[in-house]
Amino acid sequence: MRVLVLSLLLILSYSCKTETTKPPVKAPIRGLIANKAMVVSARAEASKIGKEIMLKGGNAFDAMVATEMALAVAYPYAGNLGGGGFMVYRMANGDIGALDYREKAPLAASKDMYLDENGDPIPEKSQLGSLAVGVPGTIAGIFEVHEKFGTLPIKELLSPVVDLAKKGFVVTEKQEKRFQHYKDLFLKVNTDTIPILRGYTANDTLKNEALASTLERIIENGKDEFYKGETAKKLVAFIRNHGGIITMNDLKKYKAKWRKPVEFKYKDLKVISMSPPSSGGICLAQIMKMIEPHDLTSFGHNSLKTIQVITEAERRAYADRSFYLGDPDFVKIPIDTLIDNSYLKGRMDSFSFDKATLSSEIDYGQIPGYESEETTHYSIVDSFGNAISVTTTLNGAYGSKLYVDELGFFLNNEMDDFSAKPGTPNMFGLIGAEANAIAPEKRMLSSMTPTIVEKNDKFWMSVGTPGGSTIITSVLQTILNVEEFEMTMQEAVNAPRFHHQWLPDVVVFEPNSFDKTLLQQLQSKGYNINEEESRIIGKVDGILALPDGTLEGGADKRGDDTADGF
Ligand code: DON
Repeated sequence: MRVLVLSLLLILSYSCKTETTKPPVKAPIRGLIANKAMVVSARAEASKIGKEIMLKGGNAFDAMVATEMALAVAYPYAGNLGGGGFMVYRMANGDIGALDYREKAPLAASKDMYLDENGDPIPEKSQLGSLAVGVPGTIAGIFEVHEKFGTLPIKELLSPVVDLAKKGFVVTEKQEKRFQHYKDLFLKVNTDTIPILRGYTANDTLKNEALASTLERIIENGKDEFYKGETAKKLVAFIRNHGGIITMNDLKKYKAKWRKPVEFKYKDLKVISMSPPSSGGICLAQIMKMIEPHDLTSFGHNSLKTIQVITEAERRAYADRSFYLGDPDFVKIPIDTLIDNSYLKGRMDSFSFDKATLSSEIDYGQIPGYESEETTHYSIVDSFGNAISVTTTLNGAYGSKLYVDELGFFLNNEMDDFSAKPGTPNMFGLIGAEANAIAPEKRMLSSMTPTIVEKNDKFWMSVGTPGGSTIITSVLQTILNVEEFEMTMQEAVNAPRFHHQWLPDVVVFEPNSFDKTLLQQLQSKGYNINEEESRIIGKVDGILALPDGTLEGGADKRGDDTADGF
């Protein structure tokens, strides 16, 4: 009897043990599935307007024009007429390209314009108010897209946006909090009481008649309305009244530019991403190629070894970024060498799993013969098989905080993306050098990384995010989450993220998302950990083509982001 009881207990304890140690089988969390076409953006209204354009027969480019403007209405935090952005596309036939509608420094800008008499940067000057504003590129961007690829008339694309501005959008809880958070800064730079300050709370409807009128004039007169017409005159008068330096000539001279995207292979993927003046594509290529020799899948998602390899690759890529990258129309960038396999292999020679490389030991790589919080992303796929990936921004939240009341929109503070002084960090802590110094008509270096990925020569993923310097590393982790760790698109965008950018020499982790023992292990290997800073790392939106031909949307849980499709 005793033996029987004992063996029963043994069996019981064994079976209990196996019960508790078995990893729980979790059902995959999937985002919205659509059969033909999809938009994923920061606001439900914008995704819906883009989807409806495609339901009417418009393509992804038509939907881009409408979505971009709808975000300017419903997501003034980053959606804009007063900012700029980048688009990467892949046509159904495999043709690829990129559009640069990044802001430019005004003609009257100068290298030392943000330095005090001791030669030290005055951050407020490049971040807040009229001197922080770069010449806006967004309207030139949407018209360039429309001229090259649009199929429906501008009026048909923008009328739903005018209606949205007139009828208003419903303020979300997150928006209410942001309105409150930035209140003092709005008051500091705006002489008039701007609409956002009129005490809106969650579930209120915010209408923007001024923006509706601006858009109506743009429908009527095209892009010249913004760069030469009544809107241009009002804009310049407003900026100059507020002490800014942008002139009619600056607006008249602004042009969006088609660029050749950065292309590279990672295992069975072909990644197509934004070229300079964004650092996104080059840094992403460098990081992915430096980690490619390591078997991340066997290390595991967010495991010690995976974090080490990614962090060390990021450290080296951001060091190169700070020295080599800037506006390609002004500086020579050794792109081919920077993303060359043997160069990158050499960069990782000093890496060891035993201990962290210190950033102070890492400089930019030697290239022989070489001379010299806010943005928004959306992805669209249409029923014809075209895919686009767009990241657009005012730079900081609500840009310079300067609101053109009469025209209904905020102006960017993109000038802060320049390096005001070599070696001094900007608002994202990024260090720059001569390559990203201020010069009239130059575009400031960006981290925006709108990206499209192919698998077996077919469209596989469109992805991107806001997040300043963390954009590149968030896009990276999202692609790896699906490719290496078999996550769904929705799981991939929701998964906890970390970030390293060479300087400061700190690995930032999303708070309360990583195991404490893991963080201690990293610390003992010499990594400086920062988990306290409660900022989020990226707010990724993406679309994934599933093997059965349907599309899965990944709308980041960190925001009000929404997928819509049919
Ligand atoms: O172009 C850039 O890299 C920055 N202006 C992006 C700013 C941004 O993502 C802010 N969002 N959190």
